[in-house]
Amino acid sequence: MNPDGLRQLSIEGCELIGRGAHACVYRIAPDEIVKVYREDIPFDRVLTEKQRAKRAFILGVPTAISFDIVKVGSSFGAVYELLDAEPTDSYVNRSRDNLENFIDMSVDLLKFIHGIDADTAECADMKADHLKWADNTEHLIGVHEADVIRELIRGIPDSGKLLHGDFHLKNIIIVKGKPMLIDMDTLCYGDPIFDLATIANSYWIFPQMAPEAATVHLGISVEDALHIWKRTLSSYYAGASSEDLAKIERKARILGLLRIIDFAQRSAPPEHREHLTTQGVSMLKEAIG
Ligand SMILES: Nc1ncnc2c1ncn2[C@@H]1O[C@H](COP(=O)(O)OP(=O)(O)O)[C@@H](O)[C@H]1O
Ligand SMILES: [Mg+2]
Repeated sequence: MNPDGLRQLSIEGCELIGRGAHACVYRIAPDEIVKVYREDIPFDRVLTEKQRAKRAFILGVPTAISFDIVKVGSSFGAVYELLDAEPTDSYVNRSRDNLENFIDMSVDLLKFIHGIDADTAECADMKADHLKWADNTEHLIGVHEADVIRELIRGIPDSGKLLHGDFHLKNIIIVKGKPMLIDMDTLCYGDPIFDLATIANSYWIFPQMAPEAATVHLGISVEDALHIWKRTLSSYYAGASSEDLAKIERKARILGLLRIIDFAQRSAPPEHREHLTTQGVSMLKEAIG
């Protein structure tokens, strides 16, 4: 696909309905949105996300239908079906029942996705990626720590099951009482622990680094975010002993921190890089013990 021939789309006068780390989302028709990417996001990445969104839809993941890729000014945009719903943070903040209901629904959705055989040609291999990240960050985290992490990763069973890779509240939209998933940029495959690690990052580790990760980015309190993490873990591994849960949580924390440190080197905005790296490395060393 050639990015030169894309049609220009104007978002003048369109309602802004959402914002994420990579894009702003505008309603362009009663049932369509355009996801307008940051100017620095290249065409390849937009195309990969669209292909993964289509793949997820075909594999049966409840998600928005993807339409075409367009230009919006100098940025790329991707047109999707509108999932018309109340923002999930306001749903969760309205009552304790809603919060608990959200956790139940998202754990069910997570288990459903983890039962699907991924298309391994189109998605990233999480086990291989984590091994790469351990190598890439060895100079920051230390040789001993990198060895411990590589051993931990090698001990995780191989799996070709689908993972979302960024499974948090802002990527889950509750439509007519059913959760749907968006933002397929990170669609990948592997053992469930890799998804649990990104969930730990969203609700537990990032908010420990800076409370705004919960209060601004997720739109919920740090306490509720922590509660979502703890109950997601215990519901996902229902029946596990508290000792086993503590072991799984430690593993998720180590993998999550590895991902953050690698991300900080490759993709974090320069003003956040040093802080994320220093904090991430010290939390990782503590978690490894
Ligand atoms: N298809 C959609 N229907 C309704 N809202 C959406 C849709 N896609 C995205 N949004 C809204 O826009 C926000 C950002 O979109 P997302 O794809 O997650 O971007 P990013 O990659 O920047 O995280 C979401 O949290 C959600 O509120
Ligand atoms: Mg998102």
